[in-house]
Amino acid sequence: MGKYIIVGVTGGIAAYKALDVVSGLRKKGIEMNVILTKNASEFVSPLSFQAISNNYVITDTFQEPKNWDVEHISLAKKASLILVAPATANIIGKVANGIADDMLSTTIMAATCPIVFAPAMNTNMYANPIVQKNIEFLKSQEYYFIEPDSGWLACGDLGKGKLAQPDRIIEDVINYLNPVQDLKGQNILVTAGPTVESIDPMRYLTNHSSGKMGYAIAEEAAKRGANVQLISGPTNLQCPKGVNKIGIKSAQDMYDAVMEKLSWSTVVIKAAAVADYRPVQASPSKIKKTDQDMIIELTRNPDILAEVGQQKGEKVLVGFAAETTSLLEYATEKINKKNLDFIVANNISEPGAGFQGDTNIATIIDREGHVEELPKMNKAELANIILNKVKNLLQN
Ligand code: PMT
Repeated sequence: MGKYIIVGVTGGIAAYKALDVVSGLRKKGIEMNVILTKNASEFVSPLSFQAISNNYVITDTFQEPKNWDVEHISLAKKASLILVAPATANIIGKVANGIADDMLSTTIMAATCPIVFAPAMNTNMYANPIVQKNIEFLKSQEYYFIEPDSGWLACGDLGKGKLAQPDRIIEDVINYLNPVQDLKGQNILVTAGPTVESIDPMRYLTNHSSGKMGYAIAEEAAKRGANVQLISGPTNLQCPKGVNKIGIKSAQDMYDAVMEKLSWSTVVIKAAAVADYRPVQASPSKIKKTDQDMIIELTRNPDILAEVGQQKGEKVLVGFAAETTSLLEYATEKINKKNLDFIVANNISEPGAGFQGDTNIATIIDREGHVEELPKMNKAELANIILNKVKNLLQN
């Protein structure tokens, strides 16, 4: 492959797993220097990384340089990518706040290549709003993050914060180095998130969608070279790099936005959780409470996917089905009713599937009736499986 990268290892219990990452990257033909922070070298010896990376390891800004130039600058210039794995809350916080006080942080600050963090830390530290704010800020500055896994952590806590599996880190690094552009030229319209149906200026009907599934599809499609139009209900998510976003509130807004972009699109993927009903009338002023019970009369919203199905033509059309019972039966009905190429069905009552989380458990059913049951996986991985199927349909 002939690329040169820098692997930064920071001080966490997962530092030993970086040896597998370095070894796997070497097997793919990638040359590298490892930079260990002082704390990381308390967990794993520099000698181990030297042997596995087959190169000298840098631990200190002031160690005798191998070349007579300013080492953090020359390394930063030479690298095609910097991977930090594991990335502690400390290094993320330092980079987000412009602090460069050791070899790794100065090298990152001097670099112009893609920088990829694979965070690993205690679950409460990961969920800490300050850490999350730093991550969101860095994402907005085009730093990449490989989501940590969930599970038992070294400290005995259960939750999100485990370093992603080395294989996933290696695959992501290779994709960042050699982005596959197999969807170049395609115009992909993705819907995501919930819709919000007003009752009065204060209250509304909505659902639990976080937007993560749809945003993952939009992000992966953009990485694979597609032109991506995301139409999203209200979420807390950052618009992925290279994606155009239209923000909407109600199902009617989403309908209008989708119809406006329909003729542009070659592929439509509808991951949004759209309200089937809305109040017949949204009150213009706050509804005052009385001693009586209240009944809100609802009316049907347009079925956007069914309408797109009517106008499908040569487009590839993918729907989602969120069910709690009879998953296959209801999802299959939707393929026919909405004229889909395939549907991604998820049982939203299953742990690890559906709303909010970073994982999903999906069954993909196509119009010929082929059923593919997928295991629990990261939403980004599922997004790529969906996009692979889309690509196959476009090729046929
Ligand atoms: O956003 P996350 O927190 O990551 O959660 C992901 C998800 C659970 C929202 C996602 O995986 C999912 O299942 N999305 C579809 C949710 C849904 O509305 O399912 P449905 O079975 O009610 O609708 C079937 C399909 O018709 C969907 O593609 C939906 O976008 C579409 N639809 C539904 C109603 C409507 N009025 N118009 C539509 O276009």
